[in-house]
Amino acid sequence: MCGIVGYIGAEQAAPILLDGLSRLEYRGYDSAGVAVFDAQAGALAVHKAKGRLQVLSDQLHGGATLNSTVGVGHTRWATHGAPSDVNSHPQVSRSGKIAVVHNGIIENYTELKAFLVAQGVPFTSETDTEVVAQLIEYFYEGDILAAVGRVLRRIQGAYALGILCADCPGQLVAVRKDSPLILGYGQGCNFIASDVTAILRHTRRVGYMEDGELAVLTREGIQCYNHLIQPIEKEITTVDWEIDAAEKGGYEHFMFKEIMEQPEALRRCLSPRIRDGEAVFEGLSLPPDLLKHLHRIYIVACGSSYHVGVVGKYHLERLTRIPVEVALGSEFRYMDPIVDENTLVIVISQSGETLDTMAALREARRLGGHILSIVNVVGSSIARESDQVLYTWAGPEIAVATTKAYTTQLALLSLLALWLARELDTVSDEEYRATLAAFQELPGKMEEVLSRRDDIQYFASQYFNHNSIFFIGRNLDFALGLEGSLKLKEISYIHSEAYAAGELKHGTISLIEDGTLVVALSTYGRLFAKAMNNVVEVKARGADVLSLTTQSCREEVAHTADAVMTIPDIHQLLLPCLGVVPLQLFAYYVALMRGCDIDRPRNLAKSVTVE
Ligand code: M6R
Repeated sequence: MCGIVGYIGAEQAAPILLDGLSRLEYRGYDSAGVAVFDAQAGALAVHKAKGRLQVLSDQLHGGATLNSTVGVGHTRWATHGAPSDVNSHPQVSRSGKIAVVHNGIIENYTELKAFLVAQGVPFTSETDTEVVAQLIEYFYEGDILAAVGRVLRRIQGAYALGILCADCPGQLVAVRKDSPLILGYGQGCNFIASDVTAILRHTRRVGYMEDGELAVLTREGIQCYNHLIQPIEKEITTVDWEIDAAEKGGYEHFMFKEIMEQPEALRRCLSPRIRDGEAVFEGLSLPPDLLKHLHRIYIVACGSSYHVGVVGKYHLERLTRIPVEVALGSEFRYMDPIVDENTLVIVISQSGETLDTMAALREARRLGGHILSIVNVVGSSIARESDQVLYTWAGPEIAVATTKAYTTQLALLSLLALWLARELDTVSDEEYRATLAAFQELPGKMEEVLSRRDDIQYFASQYFNHNSIFFIGRNLDFALGLEGSLKLKEISYIHSEAYAAGELKHGTISLIEDGTLVVALSTYGRLFAKAMNNVVEVKARGADVLSLTTQSCREEVAHTADAVMTIPDIHQLLLPCLGVVPLQLFAYYVALMRGCDIDRPRNLAKSVTVE
């Protein structure tokens, strides 16, 4: 989704802005722009271009053509109005005095635009953002903060804003509501950014803006204000990510790097949480009353994080016998969810900024639920708004297609299920110990899977030309199929669907014909025989079957399937965590062979901050 970066200091702003934007490219965008204060002209200079950031950068010779020490930059992911130069940000007011970059959506922009048009204000773009720029100018009477304050009282929706005013070249104004924006504290310079990766080269000292807050940045410092424009103090946090963690480090793609990083990410996530034969969640204490009366669990998330929830439901229900409902963030609010103070709501998000998930969290909180989130990005909105947070510690994930965040979320949720079962006394001592031991084997076994990646590459070379691929499986394998299918379609653009294998015969089997590729998942021993029946069914209708199973079942599967991928045998709780790796690799190699832009798939954004 849109990316914002802003700089004020003593150095040339444009190269810093372009570099910052290049680090936000992974979020997804279709055009880019910058606005700087040109001291010689005494006015704002705005440059925008549709397409890759490189187009803009080439036009500006990497920023060398602009002479200024203050500016804002933006990568746009189109919502209102098609991708075009004119719809790109920054959007400027009629006189060119105000420039605005925006991430989010102004919901009441139509009525505000009508009001401004009636006052004779001409509009040039189709964006909701232009309304903000025009409205600031409309209210501006020499005090930019006061004008912004008046605008904020009128606009509705979600917004992170970076604002320049030609009359105040020594200031940059920032605003945040429901869209992420952080403040970066440098030495003689300060920053705003959509996330830390954009400014990590310049500073590790950041402040997280809260909803409704404003900030005025100068070279010397940052003053924050609440929604009533009263000064407030902001806590400064030091980010401990290494810069290398957000770089490709010799790999061709971030996605591949992140796939390969999974064993290490799992060690970081799990080792501190398994100590002396116990699952330990430091700082996690569910209220005793909740534990006593817990009668329902909701898991709320979007995309791959939702798929983690689907696996989690099986684990949690089996281990705790408490009913679990998994809901999509975008649906939760509208399904009249049954949440009360005896409900645990587990919110899962890599970015911690997904707006649908965030809105679901707020609804669950309003209804009285206890919110426990599983999040990767430290200090993100979802983490901060939850009653309790468990960080996955997977490190920065840049590729749009999530991999290491998925496996660490899944491992963490599985461990949480075991911990909860222990707290509720619904798991035997023997099962508890055996399962915990399996967690410790997980990273090593994953390394084994990764070391056999050439096999998967070979299968990808056999099947990359297919136009439609089905993933089938039962129970845990169905949940695994959902993720395998999403991974494949999002980066290779092959149509793909995941089905509960037993459901095929109720309709979808009519789509199976000679040569249709079916990826049949049968890692879950309890349902192995039934999964084999489904393989026979699709084979009988002409499907090519690529199977995924455990090493101990390999031979049996090889009698029926055309090709077999395997994972080492492991405790059933961890099968999906291990089983997803060959599916990630399969998606990666297929996309590679089809020449797709793997880290930046079309139309997608890394963090989806609009509804
Ligand atoms: O940051 P989140 O985990 O909240 O993101 C949720 C989805 O947008 C995300 O998982 C998406 O489906 C990924 N592109 C999948 O690879």
